[in-house]
Amino acid sequence: MNYKIQDILAKNDLILAPMAGVTDLAYREIAREQGAFLAVSEMISAKALTYRDKHTYDLLKTSPEDTPLSVQLFGHEPDVLYEAVKQIEDMGFSMIDLNSGCPAPKIVKNGDGSALMQNPKLLFEIVSSMRKATDLPLSVKLRVGFDAEHKNVVECARLCEEAGADYLAVHGRTREMQYSGVADLSDIKAVKDAVQIPVIGNGDVCDRESYLRMKEVTGCDGVMIGRAALGNPFVFDFVRNPDRIISKEEKMDVLYRQIEKMNAVKKNAIKEARCHILWYLKGFHNAKPYKLKVASLLTLADVKAYIDEILADESVY
Ligand SMILES: Cc1cc2nc3c(=O)[nH]c(=O)nc-3n(C[C@H](O)[C@H](O)[C@H](O)COP(=O)(O)O)c2cc1C
Repeated sequence: MNYKIQDILAKNDLILAPMAGVTDLAYREIAREQGAFLAVSEMISAKALTYRDKHTYDLLKTSPEDTPLSVQLFGHEPDVLYEAVKQIEDMGFSMIDLNSGCPAPKIVKNGDGSALMQNPKLLFEIVSSMRKATDLPLSVKLRVGFDAEHKNVVECARLCEEAGADYLAVHGRTREMQYSGVADLSDIKAVKDAVQIPVIGNGDVCDRESYLRMKEVTGCDGVMIGRAALGNPFVFDFVRNPDRIISKEEKMDVLYRQIEKMNAVKKNAIKEARCHILWYLKGFHNAKPYKLKVASLLTLADVKAYIDEILADESVY
């Protein structure tokens, strides 16, 4: 379905951030049940798509419930990004996003992710090239700059708009900060003031209060949530209904269904699910013995028995 970002934001302005290793199909379906509307895929290598790499194509798995979905690409060669967009534009995704914010050394070393912010001219060329390849809504996810001495997000944002991006997401940290410190909302506001296209604010939103602060301080059109959603898809509902009380039974049911969904589409699902389990157990009292046991889980049946044990243990929650 062909969505317009303005229509999406008018309906629901909470967006599930792209998170490699986390926001797979199973997690996106679960987050949508809890009130996320627009979701972004894990980042996907444009180059690997053009090689038709099987593992990379697996990252594109989606379902009728998994919509609207933005697929995030990373890369640094305008022609490769063009080719990758052409390959996926007829696959039914709602939107396409360019990663211009990933801080991981192996990504930056290749000139991808946040490295693009060190070369605004190249960023402009890439977005222009992606724009030529598709009429689907196109977005760019930026940080506020590479480091404190090079906070050039306003320049980059203007160039992305000029190149034809339909909206921007801005994480209020520099690449140098990685995930430390506090997101700078004034930099997100500066972008909002500088461009006409919608701006999504991102960084440190974890509850209704921080959501409202992001909206009020920056004037942003939507709010993207990342880490607060790890093991906590309920965050999307909590932002709207802060008084909601969620039982251990409900949490464990959602966790199990997420792993069931993973297991239905992935080879190494249970191994991958172990970190999701640890995230769900965060904040539980007396959960240490269960956390230590996570590595022994091998099958879906193991997970079922494990969750039943936690449910039966009244000291845990
Ligand atoms: C485990 C993890 C994986 C991430 N993967 C991606 C990614 O693939 N693409 C991307 O643009 N950002 C990625 N990010 C960054 C988030 O999308 C988001 O910008 C960042 O976590 C700040 O938002 P938050 O404070 O709500 O977590 C990732 C973050 C985490 C914690």
